Amino acid sequence: MNQNCKSCKLQENKREMSKNKVLVVGGTGYLGQHLLQAFYADGNGISPYDLAFTHHSNLPPKPLLDSIPRSLAFQLDLKTGNGFEAISNAFGQPVVVVNCAAVSVPRACEIDPAAAHAINVPSSLVQWLQSFKEKNTLLIHLSTDQVYEGEKSFYKEDDIVVPVNVYGKTKVAAEQFISDNCSNYAILRSSIIYGLQTVSPVPKSLPIQWIDGALAKGEKVEFFHDEFRCPIYVKDLVNIILALTNQWISEGKQIQLLLNTGGPDRLSRVQMAEAVAQFRGYDTSIIKSVSASSVDRGVKSPPDISMDITRLVQTLRINPVSFKDGVGLTLTAEAKQ
Ligand SMILES: NC(=O)c1ccc[n+]([C@@H]2O[C@H](COP(=O)([O-])OP(=O)(O)OC[C@H]3O[C@@H](n4cnc5c(N)ncnc54)[C@H](OP(=O)(O)O)[C@@H]3O)[C@@H](O)[C@H]2O)c1
Repeated sequence: MNQNCKSCKLQENKREMSKNKVLVVGGTGYLGQHLLQAFYADGNGISPYDLAFTHHSNLPPKPLLDSIPRSLAFQLDLKTGNGFEAISNAFGQPVVVVNCAAVSVPRACEIDPAAAHAINVPSSLVQWLQSFKEKNTLLIHLSTDQVYEGEKSFYKEDDIVVPVNVYGKTKVAAEQFISDNCSNYAILRSSIIYGLQTVSPVPKSLPIQWIDGALAKGEKVEFFHDEFRCPIYVKDLVNIILALTNQWISEGKQIQLLLNTGGPDRLSRVQMAEAVAQFRGYDTSIIKSVSASSVDRGVKSPPDISMDITRLVQTLRINPVSFKDGVGLTLTAEAKQ
């Protein structure tokens, strides 16, 4: 930023005065992009938030920047903490930080456990938040259903966590680190997130779009009948994060919250495929039911990590949509893109 530029200084002063600074760490990922757009759109065209986000491996994509004008983008490496100083200087202390950054692919965590631990346990982020005089930023951190062992149905937040793979272990370590070191936080144990592609498409394949593409060929496709999840529609997860943000901004009451954030349905992969086939009118006989144990995915996968979401519904009064409705919303919106 040019320190002598008059309009830059005015903008800087305005930012200093703003109460609603929100920072999305990992803003270029799948959830991060959806979240940024929702924060931007909240408030009927005049966003009530000052938005900033971080990117890591690449420059922030133009379609994302164009869709959230006036937001600030910062390069950040959670491994080293390089980038936080620039955020302090140009943006200041956020009122809310949403941490969506992670090595989120379980197989990648198995390949490099040290890197997965260094990124998924956000110690540099927490240290940075503690460097501010007022230690009251709300940290909303994304965890996973893979903290559970997967040996029963409908896990509750107070059930013991027994992760079976490196990804789950790093996420448990992150939860522990945050609850030991922060006084104002919400940890969201998300199930599979599904929904529309992002404004700047992410490289990984998205669940509904992948199932749809595979079944559209009309040939037999194998799906597991013995692995259960509670997939959550991305807009529901975004609404949960917006509700937590607005609650903190309007009420100023610190929280220490742990929430299972899944959809209402416990589904096998076969049932997920059937929901897509039914919406599209595909022949369901091409869905071949197989056991998860028949395939080596290079990472141990917990069989049943379905979650009880009573606490979510009671705390925030948000009822996530059924998987059937979420599939309809996703594929209808994809068709309009
Ligand atoms: N997607 C799901 O189905 C799912 C399910 C359960 C839980 N979750 C959790 O939800 C969160 C968001 O998931 P997602 O699918 O949106 O993830 P994602 O698409 O994989 O995005 C990950 C983000 O992390 C950033 N990142 C990677 N390495 C970094 C580093 N060293 N320093 C700083 N940032 C780094 C990436 O930046 P660049 O792209 O610029 O490198 C990207 O913005 C994650 O915590 C994930 O574990 C996701």
